Amino acid sequence: MSKSNTILYLDGVSVSFDGFRAINNLSLVLDKGEMRAIIGPNGAGKTTMMDIVTGKTRPDEGEVFFDGQVDLTRRDEAEIAMMGIGRKFQKPTVFESHSVEDNLMLALKGPRSIFPALFHRSSAAETRRIDDILGIIRLGDKREELAANLSHGQKQWLEIGMLLAQDPKLLLVDEPVAGMTDAETEETARLLKDIARDHSVIVVEHDMHFVRELGVKVTCLHEGSVLSEGTLDFVSADERVVEVYLGR
Ligand SMILES: Nc1ncnc2c1ncn2[C@@H]1O[C@H](COP(=O)(O)OP(=O)(O)OP(=O)(O)O)[C@@H](O)[C@H]1O
Ligand SMILES: [Mg+2]
Repeated sequence: MSKSNTILYLDGVSVSFDGFRAINNLSLVLDKGEMRAIIGPNGAGKTTMMDIVTGKTRPDEGEVFFDGQVDLTRRDEAEIAMMGIGRKFQKPTVFESHSVEDNLMLALKGPRSIFPALFHRSSAAETRRIDDILGIIRLGDKREELAANLSHGQKQWLEIGMLLAQDPKLLLVDEPVAGMTDAETEETARLLKDIARDHSVIVVEHDMHFVRELGVKVTCLHEGSVLSEGTLDFVSADERVVEVYLGR
């Protein structure tokens, strides 16, 4: 299969922990600009797949390419982050004692930033960028609020905003709506669809209502490989998916 026009290309990837194959001959391809939802039972290897992409775990075998040409198996975590792969873990890790704006400012001045080299203080360009991000993450009226005072869902959005501040090409988002209210969950689907207009995104989720709202191609992992892939309707109708996951 051709790697051109792919943002992420995994082929024949395997990794074992103490003899247990957590990822087993996994092949998964994401086109540039695509958003993909990944589902599958606990222990299917969804988070481990993200660990491999971000360089946290090195595969035993297989190809992992970013942007059609960069061999990620030869890069470390810091290099991979610098190249533009941003990851959001399940638990929000915002700075609680700082305002929403300061959290975003800190992220904006992070390692991938163009700002520290060009400006000393908060510049007009930085303020505009923060305005943009606040709009995307639905926190336009919370700029001065301490992060500690945000709801769980709003903290998740702030952390997504901090990722956006680093201007990633590919975002990996692991279980973003766990613990959110129904209203926050629906807003998160809209938020990610907004982001997906100019980023490639992989979202891992167990919430099928949320996955349906996303309206994107779905990959179901099981025992470290792809069990089924296609529209949510196609994947949900797959008897093997019902057996190992949806019908539990
Ligand atoms: N660093 C590690 N050391 C040992 N075993 C690991 C490691 N990382 C993952 N595993 C094992 O690999 C398997 C896949 O785990 P993983 O966390 O990727 O599943 P998951 O699909 O994300 O599940 P969940 O839906 O529960 O988050 C599990 O059996 C897990 O215990
Ligand atoms: Mg997981």
